[in-house]
Amino acid sequence: MNAVIKSVGVYLPEFIATNAELAKTVDTNDEWIKSHTGIAERRLIKDNNILTADIGYFAAKDAIEKAGISPSQIDGIIAGTMSPDKQFPALACYIHAKLGCEGAFAFDITAACGFIPPALNTAALMIRSGQAKNILVVGAEICSRILDWSDRNTCILFGDGAAAVLLSASEENGRGFVGTALAANGNLANILYLNTLGAEAAFLRMEGTAVYKLAVVELGAITQRALENAGLSVSDIDLFVPHQANIRIIQSVGKRLKLPAEKVMVNVDRYGNTSSASIPIALYEAEQQGRLKPGMLVAMAAIGGGMNWGCTLFRW
Ligand code: UT7
Repeated sequence: MNAVIKSVGVYLPEFIATNAELAKTVDTNDEWIKSHTGIAERRLIKDNNILTADIGYFAAKDAIEKAGISPSQIDGIIAGTMSPDKQFPALACYIHAKLGCEGAFAFDITAACGFIPPALNTAALMIRSGQAKNILVVGAEICSRILDWSDRNTCILFGDGAAAVLLSASEENGRGFVGTALAANGNLANILYLNTLGAEAAFLRMEGTAVYKLAVVELGAITQRALENAGLSVSDIDLFVPHQANIRIIQSVGKRLKLPAEKVMVNVDRYGNTSSASIPIALYEAEQQGRLKPGMLVAMAAIGGGMNWGCTLFRW
């Protein structure tokens, strides 16, 4: 028995904020943002009545509908967010209630932008061990609510959005979970963090250059390690789907791995950094673009607050 990616659902806010739009309120410009990050625009949620739990639910519902199953068939929800509505309970519990998945487990993994590798790994291993058949992995972010809109070093980087991956048990050969490598360095907790909600200045804070340097080195190294653990090499990768934070990080990692550009998924230009939702949004678009076919090896690598980083491999 293996865990396969059965479907991917998304929720993308309608409102598009271009770089020029941000430049109206903060000292920045389109040229700087594009040349330093590759970001042209991001989606933002403008309606304060829409919560992180709502958009997580929309994405989860989309994934369930695409798979043609009902909420009662979901055995568990693993969610991730760095912009929760409440410090606790877990975002996963709110999504649980909205979906009406009675009997399913629900918990969050706190790894900010690094959410997807540990979350897919946990879900896949639970399915492989027979504990569950269908698990939703949901990343949902309203980053715009935790940003200091007067800090041009951070506010231009992030976007809002949600995405959900449905993992299901399957006996199909040549598809599903392959392996994961995970790592962390807690000594670097202060280069990317958000103070406890309710504390003074509860905004995301980041030492951009330190995060940038770490990301370039570690995303490539952890991808190599995941491949080696699985007895594979970089040439086996059909599509590399990295966390979408900055085009320069993505390109540097691609170069280090010696991956041709056409094997690297990029959509940071249109969404900015959507943190825990970024890899599944990219997966969704890659599939829509016809870049994912059954059996293809997909490598998903992410890094986030902790600092923690990882790479997980699936055959599509
Ligand atoms: O998901 C994981 C979390 N985040 C990341 O992965 C982000 C990692 N870091 C980065 O992507 C980059 O470090 C940034 C995009 C944040 C910054 O790029 P950089 O090339 O490292 O620029 P910098 O911080 O060294 O700043 C260069 C200059 C500075 O001016 P001075 O001191 O040279 O006069 C900044 O004040 O650019 C200035 N600057 C800006 N100018 C216009 C910084 N932000 C802006 C801005 N618009 N938005």
